[in-house]
Amino acid sequence: MRKTLVAANWKMFKTPAESTAFLTSFYPLIKSNATTEVILFPSMTSLPALVDAARGKSVEVGSQCMHWLDEGAYTGETSPTMLTAIGATHVLIGHSERRRYFNETDARVNLKLKAALAHGLTPIVCIGEHSEERERNLTANVLKLQLSVALEGIERSALGPLVIAYEPVWAIGSGHNATPAVAEDAHEIIRDHLVSEAGPEIAATTRILYGGSVKPDNIAEITRMENIDGALVGGASLDPVCFSQIIANVTPHPGV
Ligand code: 13P
Repeated sequence: MRKTLVAANWKMFKTPAESTAFLTSFYPLIKSNATTEVILFPSMTSLPALVDAARGKSVEVGSQCMHWLDEGAYTGETSPTMLTAIGATHVLIGHSERRRYFNETDARVNLKLKAALAHGLTPIVCIGEHSEERERNLTANVLKLQLSVALEGIERSALGPLVIAYEPVWAIGSGHNATPAVAEDAHEIIRDHLVSEAGPEIAATTRILYGGSVKPDNIAEITRMENIDGALVGGASLDPVCFSQIIANVTPHPGV
């Protein structure tokens, strides 16, 4: 019932020309794959060109961040209205790098999630624990708190489009992915918590992606887990061949 989804977070890499060249090489490699949804998150300056280049293709394009207001005196920021105006369909919210370097707090994640849903942007809300939190056995508390605050004051009926990405901070860019068992454990905690926060229907249909050192050779075993519905990929998504191999190696859930 949950279609697998693989998203590329290009972070601060690729110019507009490099982004569209990526799509030119990448699309022929994945276009016959009907089992996995694919989303690219380029930098803000590449967004318009990549949205245009992806038109008519089975690839969606979204923004790595946004403000929660429609307009205002917020130098450097981009609003949800501006994103939908150029045809972006998705937005990343609460990535750990945004939390760490740009003060994206749980409260702001909540405001951004409300704004994304109100504007018809599909949100991918990123949550995850730091290594010290895991060592101190706080993983479940951290994940539940991040999720509870993110969802505060949002009607259950509005949460249909929600996607969650579990990205343990210690696994991002480290070359050391969470083992499938460790990741599945966290995904189960998240899905169980969704039952109490959003009800059993939303909990059953919400896709929960894993992120952190995903590669072509570990994606199959990671997505084989029952509660892991795809991946949010950083470094290994920058090369079209490598990223297409990740998509080809996904283990779709039975019956989808
Ligand atoms: P890496 O795949 O480079 O570990 O990055 C993960 C990530 O931050 C995706 O959002």
